[in-house]
Order: sequence, then C-alpha cells, then structure tokens
Amino acid sequence: MPQLYVNLDHVATLRQARGTTYPDVTEAAVLSETSGHVHGITLHLREDRRHVNDDDMRRVKERIQIPFNFEMSVAPDIVRVCREVAPAQATLVPEKREELTTEGGLDLLRGAERVRDVTRELQGDGVAVSLFVDPDEDTMKRARDLGATHVELHTGRYADATDDGQRAAELEQLQHAARVAQDHDLLVNVGHGLTHLNVGPVAVIPGVLDLNIGHAIVARSVFLGLSGALREMREAIDRNADAARPES
Ligand code: PXP
Repeated sequence: MPQLYVNLDHVATLRQARGTTYPDVTEAAVLSETSGHVHGITLHLREDRRHVNDDDMRRVKERIQIPFNFEMSVAPDIVRVCREVAPAQATLVPEKREELTTEGGLDLLRGAERVRDVTRELQGDGVAVSLFVDPDEDTMKRARDLGATHVELHTGRYADATDDGQRAAELEQLQHAARVAQDHDLLVNVGHGLTHLNVGPVAVIPGVLDLNIGHAIVARSVFLGLSGALREMREAIDRNADAARPES
C-alpha cells in the first residue's frame, strides 16, 4: 500500500497572506499525525521563504513522531538548515524565484556536481536523499549514478492533462519511469498536482512508495477540515489499491 505524505506548505501560505501567527504549521502537522491517515509530513523550505520558514521546519521536526521529508533546493543556506533539522528524508528539487510551484524535475546533467555533493553530505548525516525528477528513462540512471537512493517522479504533466489520451500517455510514461527506476535499485516516490480524483491510477503504479500531496489536501480541508481531507485522500488511495489487487 503506498504511503501518504501530506505537504503542509499551504497552511503557511494562508498565514503569510495576512502576516498573522495562525494557522500554525506545527499544529497542522500534529493534527495530521493524530488523524492516523498519513505516514509522514513534507514541507518545502523555499529560498524566498514564501510559506514555511526555518522555525517551522525546526518545530515540526521536534513535535512529530512520524517521518519528516524536508523538500529543498541545493542552495547552501537551505542545506545548512536541513542538516540542523536532521529529517528522515530530504527531497532535492529545482527552484526558480518566479515560479508559482516547482515546475519541473531536477536537471541532472548541468546540475550534477552540486546534486552529488549535497546528496553525499546529507547521506553522511543519515538523511535519505530523494531526487525530484521528470519521468524520463535516462534521468533514472543519472539519479543512481549521483548516489541517490530514491527518486520522486513529477506527476505534474499527468495531473495537468486535458484529455483522456494525453492523461493515458503521461500515466504510461510514469509507469515506465517507475520500472526503470526500480531496475536501477531506486525507491520510487511520486508527487505534484495529485487530487483525490486523479490519484488512483498513480497510487497503483507497481513499486510506488510515497505519495507527496499538498495543495489539493489543504484546499479540501477548507470544506472538510484537515482530518476529513486527509481521510478522503487516504480512502481514494486505498480504494484504488484494493481494486488493483489480484483476487486470491
Ligand atoms: N512533490 C514536490 C517535489 C513538490 O515540489 C510539491 C509541491 O511543493 C509536491 C510534491 C506537492 O505538490 P502539490 O502541492 O501539487 O500536491
């Protein structure tokens, strides 16, 4: 059964919109944990600190028992905070100031040296390192060569597909990339743009371990409460996983 990691960045987005002290990201993380619907918490400390800040990262790590996935660029000051916080896992992502959200996977050609160095540095601290990549065959081998143990396949193109044909083609690409990644002994996570309506086919890709889902859960929590939105997502994942299981 794939594991749900809730990304709570947008709880902080709401706080930053008014410059208040609420809603508190740590409280959301603790609530997510006590809901029993998630396996871990993900936060993305962006270079411009547009939502979560360094203090959120420290406090969340201190207050939760479940695994913490620290999403980050390879900028030196971000790496420093990650090493201080010592999460279970770090997911390295590309970052552009002007983007609304992470727009594509890491460039493992031009950025290879820095990604390799940061991967080694964090692994030396006992942090598992996952590389956020587009679902391309060649990228999987590069990820392995750079020393990563995990990749997170970018599901954005699948999520944004505007017709069934395009969606099916993107799903096929994700399935293929997941197979290739596992052939290179990489563990496979997925994320970006997933909702309770589109998560099903991705959740049943063989070998997928963690689903990183944020915006849709925080948005649904406006109507259902955070626990309700997490339950809805967990049920959407389980329903599809159950349907895909061969009958015994
Ligand atoms: N995975 C990665 C690497 C991301 O950058 C993001 C967005 O912060 C997500 C997953 C979650 O995407 P969404 O908020 O669309 O669920």
